[in-house]
Amino acid sequence: MPASNTPFSSLLPLALPFLRAEPHLVDPNLPHMVSAITSVGAGECWHKDNCFLGHLLDVYRILKLWGAPDPVARCGLFHSVYSNSYVDLAIFDPANGGRELLRSIAGDEAERLVHLFCIVPRQSLIHDDLLFQYTELELVEHLTESEESVRRARDEGVVDEREPWRRKMVAVLPEGGVTVKHINTGEDVALSRRMVATFLLMTMADFCDQLYAFQDELFDNTDGQMNFSGNTFTALWPGDGRPGLWMNSLSRMAALYNLILREESLYLQSRKASIPIQSERDEALELIVPPVFSNCTKILGRESQLLARDLYWKAMAGPANKDMAAAESLLKECCKENGYVAEPHLVLGQVYMAVERYEEAEREAEEGLRLLLEWGSPWDKRMSWEGWVAWGRLLLQKAKARSWPKTSFGIISLGLVR
Ligand SMILES: *[C@@H]1O[C@H](CO)[C@@H](O)[C@H](O)[C@H]1NC(C)=O
Ligand SMILES: *[C@@H]1O[C@H](CO)[C@@H](O)[C@H](O)[C@H]1NC(C)=O
Repeated sequence: MPASNTPFSSLLPLALPFLRAEPHLVDPNLPHMVSAITSVGAGECWHKDNCFLGHLLDVYRILKLWGAPDPVARCGLFHSVYSNSYVDLAIFDPANGGRELLRSIAGDEAERLVHLFCIVPRQSLIHDDLLFQYTELELVEHLTESEESVRRARDEGVVDEREPWRRKMVAVLPEGGVTVKHINTGEDVALSRRMVATFLLMTMADFCDQLYAFQDELFDNTDGQMNFSGNTFTALWPGDGRPGLWMNSLSRMAALYNLILREESLYLQSRKASIPIQSERDEALELIVPPVFSNCTKILGRESQLLARDLYWKAMAGPANKDMAAAESLLKECCKENGYVAEPHLVLGQVYMAVERYEEAEREAEEGLRLLLEWGSPWDKRMSWEGWVAWGRLLLQKAKARSWPKTSFGIISLGLVR
């Protein structure tokens, strides 16, 4: 029997402390950790669709909602504080006691992750060495094959390392990990396979929080492949604020991450009894599966990604946004092309409310909310995640009450979410 999606109502409790701005309920140390980054100016640094502080908090929230262990979520909170291969934001100076200071604030394990994360050449590690080693078709096939391998290992105790998907994985990312060059000193840095997987997970959280059409303009990402080939440095910030074409790439990252996890679990299963936990392989580092793309099992094709984005934008920005029948058909088509994103469902929910089709509105609001809580960040970044969640909850509540304003003043005075 296929697993079903976790409903919005079960996801909400985890999200509430973030929505209510009650950080101490998420982690008693969180308020202290946040003041450590505000006190060194993170709120004054620019970061793509926000300030740096906002971005760090968002990445932390995403990782927590995905169920990441604390050191990994904390690494998300501090992920570029020593600056890294993408950004120049050394707000803690490792040469002047910054590492000791961060250890005292975030703990040794999180600090170790942050430090490694900041010295690895992340663009080449994640893209050239991992993601670009697989074609999209290979990822799709290997997801299917590996699912069957995991099932056989679980149900029949059969583990076979000669399977083609495992051979490929081991060639790309061996069980002993990889060695990369320190971005500043060029020295060798050893990374365990689990550490590479963790950095891939963090990169997913990092990317989904910050990407929108502006980066597509910068890198000429017109086909949605996100291979960073272009160089239009004159692109005007923030552009028109459309959703970006990053989800195909992110779904490939998610698939790859899942393949690494499956290979790790089979590797550990066949090794089990004989050898104790190996710290150089970071075997104590827990690897979780984010809920996005149906628990990292689906790839969103590039054509669907582009088509869905354009349908959404047409519903939003064209004359369709006053013609409910036109908006409905655009948004339904959009949700069919890209079923992994929340906002088109929520906008469609509003369309149904306007024409008093409350049951359909309720269904769309539920689905939109579920997806928003899975992502922990918005796709349509013109509005904050909290803003979208509040809007979705309002739609859901009003749909259940079978009522929606019929006047403009009625719409702007909407607000309370119970
Ligand atoms: C995703 O994983 C969770 C937790 O294991 C499970 O409850 C849920 O049914 C899965 N969802 C899908 C669509 O596979
Ligand atoms: C990246 O994409 C562009 C445009 O689609 C293509 O011309 C180029 O060959 C691609 N480069 C790589 C490294 O895949």
